[in-house]
Amino acid sequence: MRVIKYVFCVALLASAAPVLAAECAIEIDANDQMQFDKKAIDVPKECKSFAVTLKHTGKLPNNVMGHNWVLTKTSDLQAVAADGMSAGMANGYLKSGDSRVIAATKLLGGGQTDTVNVDVTKLSPGESYAYFCSFPGHSAIMKGSLKVAG
Ligand code: CO
Repeated sequence: MRVIKYVFCVALLASAAPVLAAECAIEIDANDQMQFDKKAIDVPKECKSFAVTLKHTGKLPNNVMGHNWVLTKTSDLQAVAADGMSAGMANGYLKSGDSRVIAATKLLGGGQTDTVNVDVTKLSPGESYAYFCSFPGHSAIMKGSLKVAG
């Protein structure tokens, strides 16, 4: 009887582990070579909010090598990037009030960091999302995919 109790206890702990392990935050680095250090992000479905911290590890200022982290549906990426370019530096290269933008950090220069919280309850598990930098010309290289996983 004592052994059975022990086995039950271990099984209970094992089943609880994935929930406890759900990491609802990530750091993504961007550098002076116009690169993000991650090509894909999986958001655990257990997370209600997912914090993305963008860190510009380079030295160049944001008017030369600006980086932000912008989340949209994959199908909206190109149009949001194009409208962002027209919006200009003063607006952080994003059209103001753009409802296609799910989340976005500030436009950073070297040495700067910003965190944005993604509302996971607004993401669909079946949808394809993309993140990118909206600084002119950067989204061709600085982009990745994001999905709700688990
Ligand atoms: Co950039």
